Amino acid sequence: SFLGIDLGTSGLRALLVSDDGTPIGATERHYQVSHPKSGWSEQDPADWIAALQGAIAELWAEYPEFAGLQGIGVAGHMHGAVLLDAQDRVIRPCILWNDTRSHAEAARLDALPAFRRLSGNIVFPGFTAPKLEWVRAHEPENFARIAHVLLPAAYLNLWLTGDHVADMSDSAGTSWLDTGRRDWSAELLAASHMSRDQMPRLIEGSATAGRLRPDLAREWGLNGPVAVAGGAGDNAAAACGIGAMTEGQGFVSLGTSGVLLVARDGYRPAPETAVHTFCHAVPEKWYQMGVMLSATDSLNWLSHITGAKPAELTAGLGEALRAPGPVRFLPYLSGERTPHNDPLIRGSFTGLGSDTSRDDLTRAVLEGVAFGLRDSHEALKATGARTDRLLAIGGGARSHQWLRIIATALDVTLALPSDGEFGAALGAARLGRVASGAGSVDQVMTAPETTVEISPDPALRDAFDAAYQDFRAAYPAIRGVQ
Ligand code: XUL
Repeated sequence: SFLGIDLGTSGLRALLVSDDGTPIGATERHYQVSHPKSGWSEQDPADWIAALQGAIAELWAEYPEFAGLQGIGVAGHMHGAVLLDAQDRVIRPCILWNDTRSHAEAARLDALPAFRRLSGNIVFPGFTAPKLEWVRAHEPENFARIAHVLLPAAYLNLWLTGDHVADMSDSAGTSWLDTGRRDWSAELLAASHMSRDQMPRLIEGSATAGRLRPDLAREWGLNGPVAVAGGAGDNAAAACGIGAMTEGQGFVSLGTSGVLLVARDGYRPAPETAVHTFCHAVPEKWYQMGVMLSATDSLNWLSHITGAKPAELTAGLGEALRAPGPVRFLPYLSGERTPHNDPLIRGSFTGLGSDTSRDDLTRAVLEGVAFGLRDSHEALKATGARTDRLLAIGGGARSHQWLRIIATALDVTLALPSDGEFGAALGAARLGRVASGAGSVDQVMTAPETTVEISPDPALRDAFDAAYQDFRAAYPAIRGVQ
């Protein structure tokens, strides 16, 4: 069997799959995000380890197949900085991907041309390098003790194998990687006061990072050697989970944040579009994605202030797709990455009238998120990525109404995977399977069956285009008054 671990922002999911890759059982453990100050977002890596141990104890007790474990893969939330001293002790809580405290440091690094040239990306405030610059400026005693910096998934790999090893897909989100050459950049490390010996050894996500520590293998009652894969950032792992490996295959994910991801056969950076260009979790592939920071978060916010559950809000809209009304919602509740790279912008409603109803606001929120995704789609198209069919995943994809809006706003067909596992945990298990030698990338990283296909509505395309143009025009206007 194989084990996939998805270290998420709100909890850890562990999935056991059989020798042929079929899901056997899964479990989750939850933990907190602490916000010691506005814009800060931290976690204690010890909570991840406790969650992992609890999850494994459960799978071990429940499924006899666990005893035949051959491979493990770990996917993690990206960009977080786990700072370790020379004894591999955690120096301070991990600063997470959605922490914006280092926006000034990010802007300063981004202004150095080497960063966009070599990393292929804007230095976003959530990325790792500016976090280290922040620690250097504000916690010099912590900075001086740093022997290693690991991303969250690589920290779990350290616990599993005893080695400092990281995969290319996650490492591309640090701003220290030469993303085209798939190697640390001495120039970028030096520009942010770091050095190569503080970095983990790099391998491909589907390669073997090491063997499971013998003491853990004994504790878990395992006989044979267990390979631990390089692993992946959660978005690359999700791409592995739905088989988005080659040019033009991709997904739209409606989670807390919204992601529109397309796999690429070559390296085509376009930082000026605010698209992310990262290594894929398998050799010689890359992927590009637009990230919007508040997707289901926007609907959850409306739910919170109206006191109606998200499903109640969307139920009021009925089934049929309608042309957008006069109300626009700008979904910038936590700032925005693609296409604006603006951590300080905040959201707004425009076009409110005395006749505006709760349903109108709900519709505007769903459309606003769809238009935010269209921004990402336009940015991806500007890099030459082409796709006319995307898989729809994430909690928000349960709303077919929302998917109908997105399909027409983007003019792409959305396909819904049949029930079952297809997320980052499955992708991670698949990486463990390839790393153990039990199958090739082509054999293992297949697309799921889909049950529902939602096509754009040609009769409403012009109306959605017009509303999208209004949405585009609103950002520069509200930026000017905030
Ligand atoms: C990607 C990003 C998020 C996190 C969420 O750049 O920051 O998608 O990976 O876990």
